[in-house]
Amino acid sequence: MTSSPQPVLRAQNIAKSFKGDSESGRLDILTDVNLSIGKSEIIAIIGSSGCGKSTLLHILGGLDQPNDGSVKWGDQSIYDLKSDNLADLRNRNVGFVFQFHHLLPEFTAIENVMMPGFIRGLPEDEAEERASALLGRLGLDGRLTHRPSQLSGGEQQRVSMARALMNEPSMILADEPTGNLDEANTESILAQLFELREDRELSIALITHEKEIADRCDVVYELHNGVLHRLD
Ligand SMILES: Nc1ncnc2c1ncn2[C@@H]1O[C@H](COP(=O)(O)OP(=O)(O)OP(=O)(O)O)[C@@H](O)[C@H]1O
Ligand SMILES: [Mg+2]
Repeated sequence: MTSSPQPVLRAQNIAKSFKGDSESGRLDILTDVNLSIGKSEIIAIIGSSGCGKSTLLHILGGLDQPNDGSVKWGDQSIYDLKSDNLADLRNRNVGFVFQFHHLLPEFTAIENVMMPGFIRGLPEDEAEERASALLGRLGLDGRLTHRPSQLSGGEQQRVSMARALMNEPSMILADEPTGNLDEANTESILAQLFELREDRELSIALITHEKEIADRCDVVYELHNGVLHRLD
């Protein structure tokens, strides 16, 4: 008998509210989000600006606790963990590409990429070798010692992608990873992601507002009124 494989990520009944101003009161951004991502699966999340896509991705990535519901990576319910243990698990399992880079301004491109390796305790020469190979693969060979302020927006985005891949995660959560990129660079980032899915059985959730990108993913979900709808 075959049973369906356990999802790499499963979110159930996620709710998240923020405090609004005195006029709006409480902002119920996510009301009942359910989602599961399988091994080697690539899903796209679309939705209008402000509907809660980044908020949801942060919750899926262990960065922001929901008010209600659960997130599991494999069989681990992540918000049951102590914050240090969650940070450690996240560092090893999840590569997060933020909408606005979050690169450390005082460090060079290669140092930014090496950082998750350091946190994990990878020896410096190994971290450097891996970071340099990743940056090369993403077309940043001549930019290793540039600081973020000396890089274009698209280059910063690619450094952020390299950093997400540093610890060979099982999941990539990417918030508009091609938002600042021209067509050629968008294509190169997507090609990398699809190649990694093949090579390493990587599971990927990406937020995009580009229909052509969403159409290339296995499943597309639209976030609307606090709930995810699967589009067929
Ligand atoms: N920390 C916070 N405190 C209060 N409100 C917040 C907070 N974070 C997000 N919000 C609100 O939640 C809503 C959803 O924000 P979010 O960043 O998730 O949207 P989004 O779908 O990613 O939008 P975009 O496509 O513009 O990036 C917004 O209206 C925002 O103002
Ligand atoms: Mg966003």
